[in-house]
Amino acid sequence: MPWFYLGGLDLEEYTLPELPYAYDALEPHIDEQTVRLHHDRHHQGYVNGLNATLKRLAEGRTAGDFSAVKALMKDLAFHGSGAALHNLYWEGLCPTSESREPKSGAFLNQAKRDFGSLEALKAELSAATKAVEGSGWGVLTWELLGNRLLVLQAENHQKLTIWGVRPLFVIDAWEHAYYLKYQNRRAEYVDNIWNIANWAEIERKFKAVE
Ligand SMILES: [Fe+2]
Repeated sequence: MPWFYLGGLDLEEYTLPELPYAYDALEPHIDEQTVRLHHDRHHQGYVNGLNATLKRLAEGRTAGDFSAVKALMKDLAFHGSGAALHNLYWEGLCPTSESREPKSGAFLNQAKRDFGSLEALKAELSAATKAVEGSGWGVLTWELLGNRLLVLQAENHQKLTIWGVRPLFVIDAWEHAYYLKYQNRRAEYVDNIWNIANWAEIERKFKAVE
């Protein structure tokens, strides 16, 4: 299984992955209408933007014209990160009935080593997500130089990243992820995310890098 599925693995064109559950599967913590808009419109928009940017880059390459390269590199990172982070977001969630915190295993041991406890990891990721300036993400990563779990923020989609981390779990802090149901109460949305965290998927990703 790939690290996470970006769609269009032949690289001809990226595609929007289907949700791994029904649109209403994350109720009551994330409402069906938000999931529909978020997946079908916003996530699709990043996939479309990524494809359009790659097309323009290819056209410039063929013409030997790199005059637009600065703007295109920005678009590439923005839409590429937007597409990838949303895949991670949907994969990292599941219905409440399936969200079970690990009671043992390698991931839990690592979380205890790097954060003291799973509760402390959740508290730090929640706090980082709530405190994102403007639109962005909270990201649980595997940092490859120090071999450790690390919480990071990403502003927009692509800023504040450390090269050499593997994201394990992300929390979308863009208003489109929560505004219909929670309005400006971002903190309440973030706290409720833990009711639908797909720990089995987090452990699978951790096992693949550890
Ligand atoms: Fe989003």
